[in-house]
Amino acid sequence: MFKASYKKPVMAVLVSPLTIRNLRRQKVNPRIKQMAAANEEVKNTLYYFSLKHVDLNQRRITGCYWDSGSSRWLPGRFPIPDILYLRGGIKEKHAHIFAELYGMVNERGQIINHPRFNKWELYQVLNKDPVIKNYLPATREVNQPEDIKDMLEKYGVIYLKSYLGRKGHYTLRVEALPDSRYRYSYQKKSKLSTYEASSFQSLFNAAEGFFRGKSFLAQQSIDLIKYENRLVDMRAELQRNGNGQLEIVGICVRLGQIGSPITTHSNAFKFEDYFLNKMNWPKEKVEALIDTVQSFLFRIYEYIEGHYGKYVEIGIDFAVDNDDKIWLIEANSQSTKVSLEKAYSGAVVSRAYKNILEYAGYLYRQTH
Ligand SMILES: Nc1ncnc2c1ncn2[C@@H]1O[C@H](COP(=O)(O)OP(=O)(O)O)[C@@H](O)[C@H]1O
Ligand SMILES: [Mg+2]
Repeated sequence: MFKASYKKPVMAVLVSPLTIRNLRRQKVNPRIKQMAAANEEVKNTLYYFSLKHVDLNQRRITGCYWDSGSSRWLPGRFPIPDILYLRGGIKEKHAHIFAELYGMVNERGQIINHPRFNKWELYQVLNKDPVIKNYLPATREVNQPEDIKDMLEKYGVIYLKSYLGRKGHYTLRVEALPDSRYRYSYQKKSKLSTYEASSFQSLFNAAEGFFRGKSFLAQQSIDLIKYENRLVDMRAELQRNGNGQLEIVGICVRLGQIGSPITTHSNAFKFEDYFLNKMNWPKEKVEALIDTVQSFLFRIYEYIEGHYGKYVEIGIDFAVDNDDKIWLIEANSQSTKVSLEKAYSGAVVSRAYKNILEYAGYLYRQTH
């Protein structure tokens, strides 16, 4: 379907080879469906591709697009896009293709998000801002057992996290108990595991086994609020819209499973509803918190853009502790919007997809 001209902007979404194989079999991830549905209104040229199907010499990409005529996902050959949007990890073996493609896109177009944040690197970047640093839990890299020991002595409870983890899969909570004993826990998918170690050495061995050679950091535990014995934290979805303006699409409160060290994979509520109806805070107190949270979120977003480049969206994990203090947990450059879907209406979720497509159009018009 290679054509002499395409409706602008031409927007390409980078996904994994498996996602493309599935699309060809009409097996479609719900997030891709939502994006394609939003594009029926916005009408960018939109295609999905993986790094396996980029022809750098010919400057052509074989991708998959939604053909509304036949109501099918069809393969097609496309030009290098005006706008590139990343959804999915870039495997080491394809990193060189990505690097070259990145250069080609930047010649005439733009990339609207970037590879996943490295948690340790992001911490160091954000810690340079005099305001943001006040919201960061103490964090350090782990090079030797003493790094963990020192943090445990200082804080009693800490989180160990791999630099590139997600979905809480590489998050280990460690608590110092009396008599040099330690309790550690983690959750993978919905399975919760809790153990006790009877010496520091055995704790350290367990941590090394857990991270399987990946680099990890140690972080002071935030004293998260609890609701019905479940830990509570927040995910804010921020995006740039069709006018290039930054907006908060939604802020979700996430509740973990009972006993779990993480809040991922569970229930979610709208921020305001949660503090008004579940915490029974007075309206004025909730409004004041929302004001503070909004400036906190905007500051982080803009600081990240100043360092890494423009983003169409960033999902920000944060917490409010038992003293009502706000803390940053991490930022995500490729949010799956799972909590947004759980807490908000379909209209809010489709707005999130439209924003991505419309921001692409906005950027294109700025430069052409
Ligand atoms: N320092 C911390 N204190 C308390 N809870 C934390 C801390 N760090 C992480 N968590 C919990 O673990 C979850 C996953 O950690 P996060 O840094 O967001 O990694 P992931 O990339 O896996 O989402 C958070 O949503 C939060 O519930
Ligand atoms: Mg997270």
